Parts: sequence; structure tokens; C-alpha cells
Amino acid sequence: MKFTGANILSVDQFDRDAIEHIFRIADQMEPYAHRRKRTRVLDGAILGNLFFEPSTRTRISFGTAFNLLGGEVRETTGMESSALAKGESLYDTARVLSSYSDIIAMRHPKAGSVTEFAEGSRVPVINGGDGANEHPTQALLDLYTIEKELAHHGGSIDGMHICMLGDLKYGRTVHSLSKLLCMFKNVRLTLISPPELAMPQSICDALTNAGHQVINTSELSGSLDADIVYQTRIQQERFNSLEEAEQYRGRFRLNSEIYTRHYKPNTVIMHPLPRDSRAEANELDNDLNQNPNLAIFRQADNGVLIRMALFAATLGVEHLVSRYDTDVIWYSDKAIN
Ligand code: NCD
Repeated sequence: MKFTGANILSVDQFDRDAIEHIFRIADQMEPYAHRRKRTRVLDGAILGNLFFEPSTRTRISFGTAFNLLGGEVRETTGMESSALAKGESLYDTARVLSSYSDIIAMRHPKAGSVTEFAEGSRVPVINGGDGANEHPTQALLDLYTIEKELAHHGGSIDGMHICMLGDLKYGRTVHSLSKLLCMFKNVRLTLISPPELAMPQSICDALTNAGHQVINTSELSGSLDADIVYQTRIQQERFNSLEEAEQYRGRFRLNSEIYTRHYKPNTVIMHPLPRDSRAEANELDNDLNQNPNLAIFRQADNGVLIRMALFAATLGVEHLVSRYDTDVIWYSDKAIN
């Protein structure tokens, strides 16, 4: 896959070599993300960061990643404060904003909208989540996290057992992650959700065709020898009504007691965040916060490394990052989570 000048719209664009290429660039970004060094390799470049749907970490981590490479960020948040609310087409918005920016990251509530936008853009566009469809950068950072976490126990993605729970119908992160897993070997997937919120059949079929073992169930029972448990939030914003979403809230919870009962002592706990910590949901309890297997904050930190790698690769400067680096002169003590 050629990255320079490319849009990143779907994980379908990637093969295993492309994933590996991005992961090794991400490894090289650690000194910059951890403030041991700074680089100005994207000095003068502008990121248009367009978020037409709620976001905290994805939006800020795209912006932070670009800033850490020395570039500047212009952003707009929310549909109501943009000209889309005046009836402007995605094509027109893209034509205009792409002449103000060198690259664009975009999130939008409608599936397929980021691809439509990219058709009008004159600069590379990175999908930050399009409705319930895809979230490719999240899937890459999830997979990168899985690789790193399993490596601590001598494990690997090939041959692993991952358990995904919750809203697998509307959760775009589990869609994109599952598609990426199709490129690996002998993965076992236990997919636990209410039947109405099951993983789309097309994704289950792709996993089965890739030779993986897929178990769909609506019960968490017995002890699962999962290497990874990937918990998700009920995507209430994608339901027809709040009442409908509420039926499912709190259905699958993970707390210390449930973890000990159903998982191995070293099962890695992941969640794309935000976790819904309201009492009626609480899908990932705070009583796991001190558990060393809780990888959620390391996962979020990895998002900056992956997005830096994608920016460097799509703007064709991945081999120049250290040539433009200098020391950090301010106080900084960024302990790794
Ligand atoms: C996810 C998303 O927006 O799809 N969050 C994220 O980007 N880290 C998951 C979610 O909102 O539940």
C-alpha cells in the first residue's frame, strides 16, 4: 500500500504489511509522544480537524499527534456550528476546507459520509468514525495495543482468543477491529451481545472465511480462556429512541468479581472509551482501575502514536522525523501508564 497522499477511509485498504509498516513507524514516535524529544517535521502544515459528532479523545489525539509533529490544527466541532447546518453539501465543504489544509481528519454521524467528503477533497482525508460503519484509526490503535500487551506474556495476535462484549451492532470500533483481524491467523472470537445487538452477519462471515472460529452468544457463562476482553458501550446515539437503548444498558458489565469468575488472571481488559460510568450502565467498573491488566489508558495513549504514524506516512515524512528533532527543554515526567 502506498501511503503518501492516500486517504485512510476503511481498514479494507490495509494488508498485513501495511499494518506492520504503520506499527513500526508508531514505535518510532514514542520519544516525541513521551516528550523526551520534539520534532518540527510538519512545521507549516495544517490539519483540518472536523468533528461533526461528539468526541473527546479521538479529536484531541488527532490534534495532539499533528502538533507533536510540528504542525498546526484548525478545527470545527458540532454540526450546528458548521455550514452543513445551512444545507451545504459535503462536496462543497470538502472543496473549500481542503484548500485551507494539508490533511483532514473527519468524524460524521452518517455511514459513508467521510468517503463522500473525500471525493471532494484535494488533500488526504482520514476517517475519524462515520456513523456505525468504521473507525479505522481506532482499530489500528486497538490492534497495536493488543500486539504490545500480548507480547508481555509471550503471546501474539495469531492464535489469540478475544472476547468482544456489548453493542456489537452499532459499535464501529469492533467492526473495524474484526475486519483487521481477518488478516491474521487462527483467531478465536467469542462475541457476546443481546441477539438484537449482534455483530453484523457480513463481518461474522468475513471472520469465518478467514479461518477464524467465531462463537456468537448472548450469555457470559463459565470460564473463558480469553487473552483479551474488549468491552464496549451501548451506542445510545444510534438507536431509534433513548428508551430502546435503555433496555440494554447495564446488560453486560465487567467488574472485579466478574473478571475473576470468567477470565484468566492475565486477561487484558480493553475498551475504546468513553466508558459509561453512570450507575445504570457502568459497563467497566472503577474497581478494576488498579488491575494491571486494565489496558484502557495505555490503549488511549497508543492512539497518539498511531495517528502520528498515519500523518507522517500520508504526508510522506516518516523517514525525516528524527532529522528535524531537538531536545525538550521544559520539565516533563511522563510516566507510562
Ligand atoms: C468510540 C467511537 O466513537 O466509536 N470512541 C472512540 O472513538 N474512542 C466508541 C464509543 O463512542 O463508544
